[in-house]
Amino acid sequence: MVSPYLFRSTTLIEPTNKCNLGCEFCEANCTVNAHLKRRDITPEQLEIMLAKLSELIINIVFQGDCEPTLNPYLPELTRIAARFTSSVALVTNGTRLKEMYVRRLVEAGMSWFAISIDDYRPEVFNQVRRGADLEKIQSSLRALIRLRDRERPDLHVVVHKIVFPGDTLEELRTFVRTYYLDYGVNQITFAPLVQMGDIKVRDWLKLRNRLESAMIDEGVYVNLGEFCPYPYRTLHRYCGTNLLFISHEGNLSPCGLHVRQGRSFGSLLEHDLEELAQGERFRELHAYWQDKRYSRPIPAQCHDCFLLKGHYHRYSLNEGHQAGLQFLDHPDLAPAAADGEEPCRHLESA
Ligand SMILES: C[S@@+](CC[C@H](N)C(=O)[O-])C[C@H]1O[C@@H](n2cnc3c(N)ncnc32)[C@H](O)[C@@H]1O
Ligand code: SF4
Ligand code: SF4
Repeated sequence: MVSPYLFRSTTLIEPTNKCNLGCEFCEANCTVNAHLKRRDITPEQLEIMLAKLSELIINIVFQGDCEPTLNPYLPELTRIAARFTSSVALVTNGTRLKEMYVRRLVEAGMSWFAISIDDYRPEVFNQVRRGADLEKIQSSLRALIRLRDRERPDLHVVVHKIVFPGDTLEELRTFVRTYYLDYGVNQITFAPLVQMGDIKVRDWLKLRNRLESAMIDEGVYVNLGEFCPYPYRTLHRYCGTNLLFISHEGNLSPCGLHVRQGRSFGSLLEHDLEELAQGERFRELHAYWQDKRYSRPIPAQCHDCFLLKGHYHRYSLNEGHQAGLQFLDHPDLAPAAADGEEPCRHLESA
């Protein structure tokens, strides 16, 4: 590798731009939200792209915007992915996880399933996840956990929840009790609601830490430390969510954010990796984060990123207090107020 900015990471693949739900909070650019031409990554295209990244792949996750299970080739894509890594994951709305289909995916090499379930109450869940039926998804979740327990102990099952502004500590406790204790998932992950580029739950980091403490008081040691529902691996963690992201069009980016605005390093189908790594946007992003130029202008790729408007990246960077302070006064960023600056209504109601 010639570029100093190529290093091993999780590789996130967005297999399609199709979705079968119309969740009221979702701003993904899917065919349900806009008149887009339907597009799926094909097995041939995946082969070409993964071969170019092969030395850098740690693990592979099928996610991105939209719903991966709507790509009709997903079992075949999984089989190809499994040739590049022993860890292949799926993030899904769970509506298509019928037992036979899950078995096909598992046989192809899928070992990590993360299902986005935002509530334990059907009347709340079904209202926001328009088109979904919580009871059916829960029944698929039970079947998946049965498969793990009886035949495949290597399977890892995650439930991911969006933290909404109205969620209270007590509701989150019930959520954890439901899925961690009753269902027996391996892991629960939380991330705050983001709308129009803003984090809508300002105190979510404090709330999450408070929830962990409350559960420990009950004798339940749940680790909510991860922001993403997938196994996140990289040599340099940068802002906290950087990785190798391939969009359904075959474009390479450092994360799944901002691809909605068309920002990417270029097409991995048309160019070699080294060519993309020589691009100005690629070099600027990696120099900023890797060389710790935190007080310099924010890279073009990251301009306006919601993640930098809160404090999660400081928490995640784990670079020391002084480095974190440079973001507080950064001229390119609006005053950071999310992730814990304001009084916590949720915590008061505890
Ligand atoms: C865009 S979805 C794509 C995968 C799949 N369709 C699903 O719903 O799991 C990826 C993740 O983003 C989450 N998500 C969607 N809209 C969000 C929002 N406005 N704020 C925070 N998370 C959001 C979903 O819950 C899901 O876990
Ligand atoms: S299922 Fe996923 S991609 Fe589809 S609308 Fe809901 S959150 Fe968005
Ligand atoms: S700061 Fe935002 S845009 Fe930049 S790499 Fe991180 S998540 Fe992506």
